[in-house]
Amino acid sequence: MKDKPKKNDLAESLLVSLIDLNPQTEDFLTAVMDGLSAATKALPCKFFYDENGSRLFERICSLKEYYPTRTEISILEESVAEIAELVGRGAHLIELGSGASVKIRTLLNALPDLAQYTAVDISRDFLLQSAVTLASDYPDLDVAAVCADYTKPFQLAVPQNRKSVRNVAFFPGSTIGNFTPDEAENFLAGLTGVLGSGSGLLIGVDLKKDADILHAAYDDADGITAAFNLNLLSRINRELGANFDLNTFRHRAVYSEDLSRVEMHLVSQKSQIVTIANKSFNFAAGEHIHTENSHKYSVSDFRRLCSKAGYVPVSSWTDRNDQFSVHYFTAK
Ligand code: AVJ
Repeated sequence: MKDKPKKNDLAESLLVSLIDLNPQTEDFLTAVMDGLSAATKALPCKFFYDENGSRLFERICSLKEYYPTRTEISILEESVAEIAELVGRGAHLIELGSGASVKIRTLLNALPDLAQYTAVDISRDFLLQSAVTLASDYPDLDVAAVCADYTKPFQLAVPQNRKSVRNVAFFPGSTIGNFTPDEAENFLAGLTGVLGSGSGLLIGVDLKKDADILHAAYDDADGITAAFNLNLLSRINRELGANFDLNTFRHRAVYSEDLSRVEMHLVSQKSQIVTIANKSFNFAAGEHIHTENSHKYSVSDFRRLCSKAGYVPVSSWTDRNDQFSVHYFTAK
């Protein structure tokens, strides 16, 4: 009898090519150990997105307090004709952090002649599911999936049939805000190496605004963001055999005007010891684990940052209330 088909075979049978670079599994333990051994405890936010975390994030995106997702979609819808003009015909569209691949549909509907669409995401199951759904909804489109940590250099699946093709990266959601401005500049400069000179970059960036709006967006009344943040501890328990008591940690979101960023923390409610892989970690009452930064920019600040990273600003769009921005750059 034949073996049950693996997910890879499934992807192939549905005409989605998958490149699995096996991100993160090997370094989750190291990252957690390092982060919790530091003088100021911190955990990298990229580990939020296990299956449960990805599901919670999808729920955040439809919260009334969380304006970025719907605002970005409205900007994309309003400017899609201009974007299509800039992307041009026959391009290779690459989405970084594709998640459930909802926003891309707005673009795909306006870009009928793409050489290929490549989804890049760290969450393998989510990536495959959405790539397969997309491929069946767009039968004329070549769809590729790359399971990778795109903060590290990665390989792109090169579209078959076409010799030279212009790459256009789509990096929505203000995920760039997870980096500090220096890290963002380095990351974007490095990305030009993956994409090549003359490539396009379509990127969504959250804007500076009133602290109350930001606070509500990152500490919603239904506690979904709190659950999303705390899921990181559940994941450490589940995957690394730790014994975090989730009832003794609280979600906290603060906006730092100085650093133009929302910070998320998990605050220990009491003095306690947590054990992970035979190692003990002490938590003082009130001690924080810093789990995420979400930087906010002005349109001109972000264009300046990208110029320093080797891009030429082409167009920037915002919504009527200046809550969110979408930019198109070309790589020098
Ligand atoms: C996916 C990084 C853009 O910073 O707004 C949402 C993640 N964290 N609520 C953001 C997030 C808490 C989100 N990004």
